[in-house]
Amino acid sequence: MRIDILTLFPEMFANVLHTSMLGRACENGILDFRLHNIRDYSVSKHKNTDDYPFGGGAGMVMMAQPVYDCLDAVDPSHEALRICLTPRGSTLTTQAAESLSRTDRLLLLCGHYEGIDERVMLAMDRELSIGDYILTGGELPAMVLIDCVSRFIPGVLGSDESAGDESFSDGLLEYPQYTRPAEFRGMAVPEVLLNGNHALIARWRREQALQKTLVVRPELIERTALDKKDKAFLKSLENTEN
Ligand SMILES: C[S@@+](CC[C@H](N)C(=O)[O-])C[C@H]1O[C@@H](n2cnc3c(N)ncnc32)[C@H](O)[C@@H]1O
Repeated sequence: MRIDILTLFPEMFANVLHTSMLGRACENGILDFRLHNIRDYSVSKHKNTDDYPFGGGAGMVMMAQPVYDCLDAVDPSHEALRICLTPRGSTLTTQAAESLSRTDRLLLLCGHYEGIDERVMLAMDRELSIGDYILTGGELPAMVLIDCVSRFIPGVLGSDESAGDESFSDGLLEYPQYTRPAEFRGMAVPEVLLNGNHALIARWRREQALQKTLVVRPELIERTALDKKDKAFLKSLENTEN
């Protein structure tokens, strides 16, 4: 997958894109990152990229001209799926990331300051947010999106890892994980994980996932496909509470 990133701060990406699994995927030709500095496309004498907002208000707004010229240079025939990272977008989810991973080419636009001239949105295909909070720029959200989407691209994760067995993949938060030693500072690993009975382990994990999700993110349970055993387990939890 080719990913073009339009930003005022390309230096922020250097480590993240070339380290660990993303770095390996780049070396293997699975991911192809291309950073573009929007400032290079400013036509003003001092290479300005932002200006005061019409109508007044705090902060500066990124101007349309450098962004449009950068888009024209990087993606002249609009082949990439163009995404603007913005708190005003729909929220990035596992499902959205998986669907984006099937795209050949993404283009990510990172805002800064108070945001971007709204006319730029006419050249975008999608607006995505990484959550209901405000960051200083779209660079971290772009990195979050890249990391999250890349996990679904075949070959990015190691062969013993899977993007399909994590929190949210089946609608629930993940069950607790343990590794050696079986006892640490008096804290023992649950017995069921040590007995090698895979059916029992699977049931225990499912129930742990249901219980954790019920406590931390109850709204997720409503959107999850539950079987009879799940429903009976949740009912038993209600009864223990009462
Ligand atoms: C300070 S924010 C601008 C916030 C904007 N004035 C608003 O209230 O919606 C500057 C830039 O950071 C990025 N950004 C901040 N929070 C974000 C989030 N939760 N998701 C995606 N991008 C975000 C966007 O690119 C945005 O243009």
